[in-house]
Amino acid sequence: MITITVNNQMVNVDAAPDTPLLWVLRDHLGMTGTKFGCGMALCGACTVHIDGDATRSCVLPLSAVGGKSITTIEGLSLNRSHAVQKAWLEIDVPQCGYCQSGQIMSAAALLKTNPKPSDADIDAAMSGNICRCGTYPRIRKAIHRAAELLETGAGK
Ligand code: FES
Ligand code: FES
Repeated sequence: MITITVNNQMVNVDAAPDTPLLWVLRDHLGMTGTKFGCGMALCGACTVHIDGDATRSCVLPLSAVGGKSITTIEGLSLNRSHAVQKAWLEIDVPQCGYCQSGQIMSAAALLKTNPKPSDADIDAAMSGNICRCGTYPRIRKAIHRAAELLETGAGK
């Protein structure tokens, strides 16, 4: 049994220490907002925050996250009030949606360290998040919009 902290709640997980965090979230905790794409840290669909940093949960063993703070898309905000979520809705970013929780988690982590990113900053920070539907122009626009919302205090 390993105790982890997910979205500010401590939970006990009965899984082998080498179980990828992604499967702990999805199969053990029923949190299916975080998606499986490649399983090899290549697509970004499984992105969560570990102590605030965007991290690929598909290659992160359970044994590595004890004592760390894990945030998933379900815990990013209450009622979709995070600036990134507001901007995503406003710009209507998703197409099929599969990659989008990972995109949102990467964007939120970016804005925490760089509240006013340039196009180049966005492209660099988001380059590990693949979108088969090609929503990249809307993602970039929405990140700029989220930065505006943060600046004006309209999102956290
Ligand atoms: S599923 Fe983790 S990066 Fe693709
Ligand atoms: S919206 Fe379809 S993969 Fe990104």
